[in-house]
Amino acid sequence: MTDVFFNPLDEGYVADPFPHLAEMRTLLPVQQTLAGPWAVFRNADVTRLLREPRLSVDPAMIDTTDNLREQLVDEIFNGESPQPSTSILNVDPPDHTRLRRLVSKAFTPRAIEALRPMIQDLVDQQLDAMAEAGTADVVDGLAFPLPFDVITKMLGMPEGDTDSLRKWGEQLVRTLDPIVDEEMLREAMVAGTKMDAHIEGVIEWKRSNPGDDLLTALIDVEEDGDRLSTIELRDQVSLLFVAGHETTVNLIGTGIYELLRHPEQLALWRDDESLGPGAIEELLRYVSPVQFSRRISIAPITFDGIEIPEKTVVLAGLASANRDPEFWGDDADSLQLTRPNASQHMSFGNGIHYCLGASLAKMEGQVAIHSFIKRFPNATEAGEPHWNGRINLRGIEKLPLRLT
Ligand code: HEM
Repeated sequence: MTDVFFNPLDEGYVADPFPHLAEMRTLLPVQQTLAGPWAVFRNADVTRLLREPRLSVDPAMIDTTDNLREQLVDEIFNGESPQPSTSILNVDPPDHTRLRRLVSKAFTPRAIEALRPMIQDLVDQQLDAMAEAGTADVVDGLAFPLPFDVITKMLGMPEGDTDSLRKWGEQLVRTLDPIVDEEMLREAMVAGTKMDAHIEGVIEWKRSNPGDDLLTALIDVEEDGDRLSTIELRDQVSLLFVAGHETTVNLIGTGIYELLRHPEQLALWRDDESLGPGAIEELLRYVSPVQFSRRISIAPITFDGIEIPEKTVVLAGLASANRDPEFWGDDADSLQLTRPNASQHMSFGNGIHYCLGASLAKMEGQVAIHSFIKRFPNATEAGEPHWNGRINLRGIEKLPLRLT
């Protein structure tokens, strides 16, 4: 019986999770996973879960004593629990409504569109450097530096420190996986304190060096006398910074990998730039750079006749919903850049926590991927791809290519 349960530790899962997710949709679409959290896998259930107001995102709502976390708090913080994050991803209304309104104010569609020339410039510079090298790793050469540089410039953060920030970001997002071991949790807690201290320093510096950037706007943002407190500001900036690059890297890296494996689709987009807006939606659906969202049940909730108890973690299988044939039809597993309803994917979530950076991510993805396939029409794989080993923010971490 155990083989019908969700098991992302199976060999080969990260390289191709989709057959296992398909099994879960058919065999046990609502289940308590062996690791503890509940999970739903069908498109209709995922949509309902994310739109359901009786669910929380606040970790304080979970009704279990996390012995490992307590032991690490003792070890790392001498028993004094760090303050829970106030980032919009971790708070419920009314706090979520208030904070999201303040953050979105500085994150307008106009401000995002104004970034397009800067994004194209960065992509062109990165492609020039790759062309000069002849062979290149598309993740180190393009997929990682682009979103990292864009969010750094957009926030107006000082440049440099890339290696430390990249490492802390990677360590922090590992805790989004459904299974987290002691070492990962320890590293993430330490990385969290370092990231917090770094961002606090940047905010202090920015207060006396304001500029035409998102961080200055967030410092200044005010509505009816309401402002972000220093801790709220720090937590929103950390979230924007990490969410700004740890997800988009997977869209660009894995997106290019999938196009190389579907040459007829690649040729379609390469030869018709106007397909861009739909093509990026289909790549988002197909790749699912964030494979799960997490909610906590406030009260018991029933899916498919199965009751999920209160105060437990429930995972929403975004990647699974993105391939559910009941929603997408029989060709759900095929990459079709002209799929008419591709934008109905769940890759940016749904409901009140819908991704705030969705338009930015789509713009970065479209510019980077289209520029790459135009510039290197004969690119081929020059070695095996290395997957990043993550269950949630799944992606390629190395993809060596021969460019001509
Ligand atoms: C391909 C790239 C991206 C993907 C797939 C992605 C995916 C997601 C998903 C699934 C959520 C909802 C999580 C939930 O329901 O619990 C989310 C939330 C969020 N994302 Fe993104 N994201 C991407 C890029 C970005 C970028 C570039 C930024 C910012 C610069 C960003 C900022 C945020 C923020 C602030 C939230 C929290 C919204 C809230 O809780 O109200 N994301 N993202």
